[in-house]
Amino acid sequence: ARRDGVTDGDDKDRQLDSARTDSNTALTTNTGVPVEDTDNSLRAGERGPTLLEDFHLREKITHFDHERIPERVVHARGAGAYGYFQVYESLSHYTRADFLSDPALVTPVFVRFSTVQGSRGSADTVRDVRGFATKFYTREGNYDLVGNNMPVFFIQDGIKFPDFVHAVKPEPHNEMPQGATAHDTLWDFVGLQPETMHMMMWAMSDRALPRSFRMMQGFGVHTFRLVNQRGEGTLVKFHWRPTLGTHSLVWDESQKIAGKDPDFHRRDLWEAIERGQYPEYELGMQLVPERSEHDFDFDLLDPTKIIPEEEIPVTPVGRMVLNRNPENFFAETEQVAFHTAHVVPGIDFTNDPLLQARNFSYLDTQLIRLGGPNFQQLPVNRPVAPVSNNQRDGFSQHHVHRGQANYFPNSLGGGCPYLANVDDGAYQHYQERVDGAKIRKRSDSFADHYSQATLFYNSLSEWERQHVLAAFRFELGKCEHMHVRQRVVERLNNVDHDLAVQVATGIGADPPSEEAVGNHGRSSPALSQANTVRDTV
Ligand code: HEM
Repeated sequence: ARRDGVTDGDDKDRQLDSARTDSNTALTTNTGVPVEDTDNSLRAGERGPTLLEDFHLREKITHFDHERIPERVVHARGAGAYGYFQVYESLSHYTRADFLSDPALVTPVFVRFSTVQGSRGSADTVRDVRGFATKFYTREGNYDLVGNNMPVFFIQDGIKFPDFVHAVKPEPHNEMPQGATAHDTLWDFVGLQPETMHMMMWAMSDRALPRSFRMMQGFGVHTFRLVNQRGEGTLVKFHWRPTLGTHSLVWDESQKIAGKDPDFHRRDLWEAIERGQYPEYELGMQLVPERSEHDFDFDLLDPTKIIPEEEIPVTPVGRMVLNRNPENFFAETEQVAFHTAHVVPGIDFTNDPLLQARNFSYLDTQLIRLGGPNFQQLPVNRPVAPVSNNQRDGFSQHHVHRGQANYFPNSLGGGCPYLANVDDGAYQHYQERVDGAKIRKRSDSFADHYSQATLFYNSLSEWERQHVLAAFRFELGKCEHMHVRQRVVERLNNVDHDLAVQVATGIGADPPSEEAVGNHGRSSPALSQANTVRDTV
């Protein structure tokens, strides 16, 4: 049945009450047995060997030994906060999502901001992309908008994600550099995989050095799909805009702060919320009717492309406020599990091949990171919407399911005996027509890797361009292999000739003599370019 319980933005806070724990009784073991001495292990004689029967010692040490869980394979370092979201006006014309249809509804959220490359203990102000992941605890289930602070991505197909992440992470032989992009493997990959060029322009701009999580945009990146009550779709790109405006550090500041206060962004977020200066973001949407899907000179399914705002403006639709710090970093910020496939009725996917792979990856990684299939029962992940199904057992099961039956259909009682229908709010996938041969081939409509990189560079002011130039020189200048530097310079020549020449002269590479001609790749898809380069190395 449809869930019309009270929602005032505090539902999640109230729900968390059942999980909040204060250690204010006398010390006990995990089985509740009071403990008299936790400073001395049980010994045979004052100076004798420790006894195996000291169950308190063994339990205390064993629990400590197992305190750490694997850090996220990417986005390991992050900081989170709770808050709420409210839509300005009903979007029911576009979507049946309850939380986007009722301006009176206040939906609780948890947001986690993160860097991508470094480990859990790395510095905040490194040059990197920032994650901006939002979990909406809606009455119809959890919806996760798992975005970044840049509107495009490095690769077009999720099958390249392990390659990209291996290249960007610290190098495998010496685990360096930490939290940085200045190293050979990243730039080797970039040179060989030209679809990265648009995103690399953003990554070398001041966008990669946010002043604060409170002053950072967020983007859903992919084209998603809204679906209304009649089953009609509208293509959509999601945008978050900070009320404080978008601001960056400069490189010199970033480097110094990384040394003096590696927690700079985490501290800034925490302290602002403690002071009552709540970070605010406006949600915006670029809405494209289904019939206009092919009206652009790029493919809406290609995550290395933006939709220029001159073509489709961003419509402001709602506001998010972050007003409460977590109470326990591990329980909440570390154990939160975002997933692009956490959708609610009225929000659906497109066939973007990066998104499709993400829809597999997040659950898969969380099964190991969070120790089995029951991590949705963790307090931070638990929906405020009721959960009822026949999934059972598994590590760390916290429910005591009652009844004889645990299958559907059943007439014995127990289990979940009935289904919702669409009118009651059941999720229904958008009925997209699909046909085609089974094939491993990048669509030709994904082949232009440079036009939007140039568009981005041309949109910058003169001083912003100087920062991009300095960034390329700094980062590429750290590469030990000259052929790696040289190849990136050749790629940059397809973006902007002057930039390529200036980068080259700063890093000891040969400046390209001519502007690139016919360089926008339409006839030379990424993989064949990579193969050509490999043949010439
Ligand atoms: C984690 C964004 C592409 C796999 C994250 C997080 C964000 C994010 C924000 C951190 C979530 C958190 O704070 O807990 C993005 C964006 C992408 C992208 C915007 C491209 C548009 C991919 C792809 C894959 C992937 C293509 C794999 C095929 C992962 C994994 C994690 C992660 C495995 C760790 C999740 C966990 O351990 O809970 N991503 N990502 N991502 N992402 Fe992505």
